[in-house]
Amino acid sequence: MKPLRLGVNIDHVATVRNARGGSHPDPLRAAKLVAEAGADGITAHLREDRRHIRDADIERLVTEVGLPLNLEMAATEEMTEIALRHRPHAVCIVPERREEVTTEGGLDAAGQRERLAPVVSRLAEAGIRVSLFIEADRRQLEAARDLGAPVVELHTGTYCEADGAHRERELGRIVEAAAIADQLGLECHAGHGLSFTTVGPIAAIPSIVELNIGHFLVGEAIFSGLDAAVRRMRAHMDEARATASGTDSQ
Ligand code: PXP
Repeated sequence: MKPLRLGVNIDHVATVRNARGGSHPDPLRAAKLVAEAGADGITAHLREDRRHIRDADIERLVTEVGLPLNLEMAATEEMTEIALRHRPHAVCIVPERREEVTTEGGLDAAGQRERLAPVVSRLAEAGIRVSLFIEADRRQLEAARDLGAPVVELHTGTYCEADGAHRERELGRIVEAAAIADQLGLECHAGHGLSFTTVGPIAAIPSIVELNIGHFLVGEAIFSGLDAAVRRMRAHMDEARATASGTDSQ
């Protein structure tokens, strides 16, 4: 089984900082701490309204942390220029609506090929690994492949919010989409809404190689500290992966 990376999204450290307009808590300090706790990468979403992460944070996250940065952004000219200036390891293109509380649903890669194609190619030509945040749907996966994006991130939000049989159905869609991604030669990531209780079945999907998790970890840090929250998430992921591959993690 391929190793499973954990990308920690630190947006909501910045949300708390911005609530008072000062510099505490510092997302950079959080990024360094999660690196120590076993994260493999940092994820940050620079939104058009800068409600959490800001431009100066991106600069510091790229130059001062030592972990690869996955910059989540909308496919706009402004964001493309920022990405080309800072050259993060990866860019994950997400849909963005100004009034939404968080990213709602995946990118319509199939319906927006013409708008996305130049953004994907400009970023790729600059050596940035481009990923598209999409629903677990064959049409969207094929569009990502056609657009030349090497990576897709499957939206796990609906799975996480659902219960019982509905959750099982949503999990089935993600399992199937991850297998299709593999067949299409796409590297497969997943994220949104994952917690200690929902991460296991996603971590057990063999072709998924990266999970991006933020809100739950920053919330859990209030109770147990960020270091402990990240370590516990890492342990849940490793245990699910080990069980799925038939090896004991102990
Ligand atoms: N992946 C993508 C593409 C996202 O937009 C987000 C939220 O910014 C996440 C993962 C992390 O989601 P959550 O904060 O719910 O863990």
